[in-house]
Amino acid sequence: AKVKLVSGIQDSWVAFTYEAAEAVLKDERFVKNPRAVFPDVSEHELMPITHSMLFADPPDHRRLRSLVQRGFTPKMIQRLQGRIEEIAKIQVEQMKGKETVDLIADYAFPIPIIVICELLGVPPEDRLDFQRWSNSMVEINDDPSFYEQVEAHMKEFQLYIEQLLAEKRIHPQDDLLSELIRAEEDGDKLSVQELYGAIMLMIVAGHETTVNLIANGMLALFTHPEQLKKLKESPSLIDGAIEEILRFNGPVEFSTDRYAKESFTFMGKQLQKGDHVLVSLASADHDPAVFSEPDKLVITREKSPHLAFGKGIHYCLGAPLARLEGKIAIQTLLNTFPEIQINTALANLEWRQSFVIRGLKEPA
Ligand code: HEM
Repeated sequence: AKVKLVSGIQDSWVAFTYEAAEAVLKDERFVKNPRAVFPDVSEHELMPITHSMLFADPPDHRRLRSLVQRGFTPKMIQRLQGRIEEIAKIQVEQMKGKETVDLIADYAFPIPIIVICELLGVPPEDRLDFQRWSNSMVEINDDPSFYEQVEAHMKEFQLYIEQLLAEKRIHPQDDLLSELIRAEEDGDKLSVQELYGAIMLMIVAGHETTVNLIANGMLALFTHPEQLKKLKESPSLIDGAIEEILRFNGPVEFSTDRYAKESFTFMGKQLQKGDHVLVSLASADHDPAVFSEPDKLVITREKSPHLAFGKGIHYCLGAPLARLEGKIAIQTLLNTFPEIQINTALANLEWRQSFVIRGLKEPA
């Protein structure tokens, strides 16, 4: 398919098989920074988030990732366990006594949002604004006025971050944002644009993914009642269940954009410098060459080399956090409401229109 993402792109390719998907993700001839192949691209065409690690190539990528990585070591994430359990408990308490709840709005959404806001040092009360802004970055729409709205949202988002940073510079705290500001103030480690990019990336990653791990996971369990029963009977299967949910209904459907750094032949296809390449993580994770009965949820699969968190140098930095949150959220829900069922008459089981995110639309 020919699509115009940034001016200059000729062709667009998609890797669908597991073999091709893994090969693209690991091959550094596919670059992430559009400026590397389109030097004339204007800042106006790109979103501020393109100054983050997700859109950077080595050596910048290493520098940007290692600064944020400090706040995301598995040890630090493990320390969050008690706090995540507390947040999940507060949310289930609020649901008790109700006959029906909106599982996304009342449960799946607040947990990861509160966690990421606390980690970053951002007021969780502003979460509806974050939701609006991050939606703008991942949704697609045929309506031309939608893109005017996206631009307006990006301006609001940027203004918000400017104010937040101004405040944090005066009153630094023990949080990731203050840590990043210190790195920026230390001189050449982080430019102001990179600081903005890092904050936007963390807010978007924290809002659009784990929410769907919890919601897509519960949907997969509801539609495979024998697997749900098995999990309730043997709670120790939860780790395998989370991996299988990530494979079966992973929250990230397509990787982010990559570009061929040069012209070369890749798996028999002739690519031109600047060609746009996407990886269908969802399709790779349903490839029968790697997963037997791929369209079935089987929480006891022996081995699952799924690509839900990507692969290679851009492998998801938040994976340990997302796994822990998903595990605690689903466990707490099943322990508190063992008879939980989906109300198909009320549930809006339509998928959102997004290239990147696989998640359900919330009821209007
Ligand atoms: C990168 C998936 C949760 C932070 C990625 C990538 C995927 C992914 C597929 C690589 C994209 C590519 O190569 O094009 C997921 C899934 C999540 C999740 C499925 C939840 C279940 C999170 C969370 C955070 C996070 C909670 C942190 C708050 C990041 C960052 C990157 C990333 C910073 C960029 C890494 C880099 O470029 O080096 N994620 N993510 N993710 N994710 Fe996640």
